[in-house]
Amino acid sequence: MAPFIVSPASVDDVPDMVQVYNSAFEHNYFSSFTFPKEKVPQDIKNEWLAEKYTAALRTPGMETFVCRDNISGEVAGFARWGYPVVLTDAQKEEKRTRDAEAKQKRKKGIAPYPLGSNVECCDAKFLGLEKFRDKHVDYEDMYGMKPRPLSLNTIRTDEHPVVYFLGVHQKYQGKGVGTLLLKNGLNLADAQGRKTYIEATDAGRRLYLKLGWEEIDVLRIDIQRWGGSKPGTNYIMMRDPQTLGA
Ligand SMILES: CC(C)(COP(=O)(O)OP(=O)(O)OC[C@H]1O[C@@H](n2cnc3c(N)ncnc32)[C@H](O)[C@@H]1OP(=O)(O)O)[C@@H](O)C(=O)NCCC(=O)NCCS
Repeated sequence: MAPFIVSPASVDDVPDMVQVYNSAFEHNYFSSFTFPKEKVPQDIKNEWLAEKYTAALRTPGMETFVCRDNISGEVAGFARWGYPVVLTDAQKEEKRTRDAEAKQKRKKGIAPYPLGSNVECCDAKFLGLEKFRDKHVDYEDMYGMKPRPLSLNTIRTDEHPVVYFLGVHQKYQGKGVGTLLLKNGLNLADAQGRKTYIEATDAGRRLYLKLGWEEIDVLRIDIQRWGGSKPGTNYIMMRDPQTLGA
């Protein structure tokens, strides 16, 4: 019996996915400044994450995969991929309404982060990453990790998947779970001969290099003014299609 098994996630998996996120990012240096533990109550953060994950499960074209321990059944890690689709008129309308609501909220000073977050640091990081995507990602010809949402006009049925998130519970790290979740999507990218884009943390960088990504840029945010001893960093990486081992 294989030690781990990857399968599509359902709404029932959301609480486990929240736990996986909290464990995977517990010691993430950059996150400790965007979402400072002492200021963001854990229950507020959990609720925010659960909402995000549930919404993603309902978003056309997004697919979340969980990797379970085959014996205990526990969720060891998960990855979220985007599969571009042609939206129906009703779905387009829904998306327009959602985007307009988010814009309105932002105008009123309500940031899209959990209560207590360091909004300035979050903006520097998340809007900064968006700029890198605009610079490097060809949405019609690449896979990517966390690309900006595809424009309604450019979505095509023959486009390709994208990874939005990868995290593995600390208890299960170093056992091949991350590799399994990545290969699940990379096999498809390779079969289609597509490039893959990813925004790596310090923790993920080595694994991505091993799987064929190359560093093409770096996001570095000075966080000294919030007490940081070094910049907050994300590595912008690109991977050419290739043949992976099983
Ligand atoms: C980065 C992350 C997703 C990697 O997941 P993982 O399940 O630990 O990754 P793997 O086990 O597949 O690979 C990790 C290492 O174990 C090795 N490994 C893989 N299978 C293994 C096995 N069966 N036994 C022992 N080691 C194994 C890999 O070769 C890799 O080696 P490396 O340390 O030289 O890179 C995980 O550490 C994590 O969630 N980190 C925190 C959150 C984060 O930063 N996420 C990435 C966002 S971009």
